[in-house]
Amino acid sequence: MRALILGRGAREHALTWKFSRSFRISGLYCAPGNAGTAELATNLPELSETDTEGLVAACRREEIDMVFVGGETALAAGVVDALQAAGINAIGATAAAAQLEASKAISKDFMHRHAVATAAAEVFHEFEAFERYIRAVEHPVVLKKSGLAAGKGVLETEDKDAMIGFGRETLLDDRLLVEERLTGYEISVFALTDGTNYTLLPPCADYKKAGEDGTGPNTGGMGAICPVPWVTPEVMEQVRRRVVEPTFAGLELDGLRFTGVLYFGLMITKDGPKLLEYNVRFGDPEAQVLLPLIKSDFGSLCEALMEGKLAEFPLELSRKTALGVVLASPGYPGEYARNIVVEELPTNNSKELLVFHAATATDGDRVVTGGGRCFTVVGIGHELLEARGTAYSAVKNVKFEGAWCRPDIGGNIFGW
Ligand code: AMP
Ligand code: GLY
Repeated sequence: MRALILGRGAREHALTWKFSRSFRISGLYCAPGNAGTAELATNLPELSETDTEGLVAACRREEIDMVFVGGETALAAGVVDALQAAGINAIGATAAAAQLEASKAISKDFMHRHAVATAAAEVFHEFEAFERYIRAVEHPVVLKKSGLAAGKGVLETEDKDAMIGFGRETLLDDRLLVEERLTGYEISVFALTDGTNYTLLPPCADYKKAGEDGTGPNTGGMGAICPVPWVTPEVMEQVRRRVVEPTFAGLELDGLRFTGVLYFGLMITKDGPKLLEYNVRFGDPEAQVLLPLIKSDFGSLCEALMEGKLAEFPLELSRKTALGVVLASPGYPGEYARNIVVEELPTNNSKELLVFHAATATDGDRVVTGGGRCFTVVGIGHELLEARGTAYSAVKNVKFEGAWCRPDIGGNIFGW
């Protein structure tokens, strides 16, 4: 099978690495790819993630059998629909299903209609009604832009004037959700689905804030662990019954089934799990810690997904723990510098240590950064402490000007 991975982040590097270890793969491509994927696959740097026509043409030229779409922008733009229309197998949500991620107004409506456990919310599209509501509301709330916002569309504050300012700006070109503020701890749960059946993967925790102990601004994710030792089988069973089952029943009823990954962003409250959001893809950095724990041949797993045979697939998972630390550019998650020369990277990549690149490029024989989050260093161990030790000892060997990371990935996330 000749496979192409669409994207250029550390998630796509992890996917490319996973495919590169499959016995089913006879050709491997990444579009546009990064300096890390170039070591494992043929990059197609001229293709942007949403260049559907270019992608279909490249798939025909390179005789690609299957495309795995990494990120939400491409999915929401309808890349999967275009590939399927051209007779090319694709793993990822259709544009219609991607609305569950791209529009929080649509996804909240879906959750309510299908009795998925979630936070109560009101959706607004005009300012006056929103302002009246905020002036009157007495319980704690969070404000969310409806559209895609790369983790930056949520306002958590007590200050009503700040809320009203955020609402005024958002409502110029988007809808706004005012959601009951939940307390508890967050986990990410991923389901693989072949369009009919689904399988849940072990839970991950994503360390979303920029600062130690969960302080500072939100980011795309500064690190992750998998599995999460404080999530019990009972909690996972509640997630399955109250969130996952009604979701898949709802997808069926609404005609939204697809082949790919569905991601449940959950808050585990004292009243049980509540769904904060759907994403229609693997998380980043969650993919970097989840994929190394899949022991089954990834190419065969993807074939099973495409053929609707997930129920018969003997999915094998490692019993180890993976912990990923993100190295970011100076300034991230605000304005950040690009094209910083990477002076050193860990050289001892092994079964226990993996370094995934995000948006890096080569400049002659040097690697240069391209994004805000530049690398994910993943340690794998028998338990969290061992994984953490491996990851943080290698983090010291990722050297570029101004590189920074959170020092507390793997720490307790209660009370965030
Ligand atoms: P979302 O894009 O909906 O996942 O929201 C981004 C982040 O905002 C989440 O990961 C939470 O940390 C926080 N958040 C979102 N909704 C709520 C809520 N209802 N209560 C408390 N925190 C929330
Ligand atoms: N790690 C959160 C996300 O991928 O959206």
